[in-house]
Amino acid sequence: MSRTRVLLLFGGRSAEHEVSVVSARSVYAAIDRERYDVVLTGIDQQGRWYFGGKNSESLLSTTTVVPDKQVPARLSTAGTSLVSEDGDDLPDSEFDVVFPLLHGPYGEDGTVQGLLELAGLAYVGAGVAASAVGMDKALARAIFAASGLPQTQYSVIARSDWRRAQVPVLERLEGEHDYPLFVKPANLGSSVGISKVHDRQELQAGLELASQYDTKLIVERSVENARELECAVLGNEYLKASGIGEIIPGAEFYDYTTKYIDDQSELVIPAVLEKSESEAIQELAMRTFKAIDCSGLARVDFFMRPDGSVLVNEINTMPGFTPISMYPKLWAAAGVAYGDLIDRLIQFGLERHLDRKDLQSTLS
Ligand SMILES: Nc1ncnc2c1ncn2[C@@H]1O[C@H](COP(=O)(O)OP(=O)(O)O)[C@@H](O)[C@H]1O
Ligand SMILES: [Mg+2]
Repeated sequence: MSRTRVLLLFGGRSAEHEVSVVSARSVYAAIDRERYDVVLTGIDQQGRWYFGGKNSESLLSTTTVVPDKQVPARLSTAGTSLVSEDGDDLPDSEFDVVFPLLHGPYGEDGTVQGLLELAGLAYVGAGVAASAVGMDKALARAIFAASGLPQTQYSVIARSDWRRAQVPVLERLEGEHDYPLFVKPANLGSSVGISKVHDRQELQAGLELASQYDTKLIVERSVENARELECAVLGNEYLKASGIGEIIPGAEFYDYTTKYIDDQSELVIPAVLEKSESEAIQELAMRTFKAIDCSGLARVDFFMRPDGSVLVNEINTMPGFTPISMYPKLWAAAGVAYGDLIDRLIQFGLERHLDRKDLQSTLS
């Protein structure tokens, strides 16, 4: 049987560019070479795609995608290969399936997935809508609410309302919630632009900060003294949930520095929980996955209050994917090695594509 050709897309225009490159390096090293050939394509921080044929590997040699001998590339009109900017065919760029190993905006948010859908391609992970919802904390919370999933109370603020008149917004929020609160831009990951606020002055500063990153802001009641638990979900129609992991943040909250710079936080697998508690969280993880109509993979993050009650915090449709990231570690603990996990994800991507191929469009 000929090997399946996987276009590994990595880098990208988000704050998690470097994490994506590290993940890509690990996937490249661990993928089963008997079954797969890898076509490496790096996206730089401006959003340009680079394919380098035989020089591809050097795209992975630095922590950011910096073209060395590679040429800018884009999808061919046929979709299943790349062409140069002038439209010339690029040798050895043909592929069967795309693995968009991209985190954050312009990668995990449905935009790249939309491009791949238009080109008629098979790809790993969530589709357009689930990716977009997973990335937008306000939309995700609306869907969690509609699905009866337990979560913290929250309010959504349009940046335009905030900019037009700050005092009414502050008064409204103080009428709806007690401090402490979390203020977040709706559409960003990796804790960028998030603050925990304890009074009106901090709330004002938090809204100002968040409004640098998005036109829609979310204010949430802080879940105090909560444990942070995470569960990995794998599958399309039939889902599997991993055991539960716990994050012990080194700072007051799991902010960008703790996540990516200090490496202060600790992952505990499995989290110390009663069996019934773990099972309830696995059930919630799969319900959350289905609620947003996710496919392939997701990591669902929870808060557990001191009284044992559990709230859904968020769903990440392209979770950190280095071998030391929570998602692969949860599966490794469940007996699915990193290389196997990659294999399963690719197979789920191909299956989803096949499953949708015979759908009738309105014109046919
Ligand atoms: N409502 C909340 N209550 C308590 N802690 C929170 C709350 N929201 C966020 N946090 C803390 O901030 C971190 C980052 O927030 P999160 O919503 O997960 O954003 P991101 O998408 O950037 O990961 C969480 O891991 C947690 O430590
Ligand atoms: Mg988070």
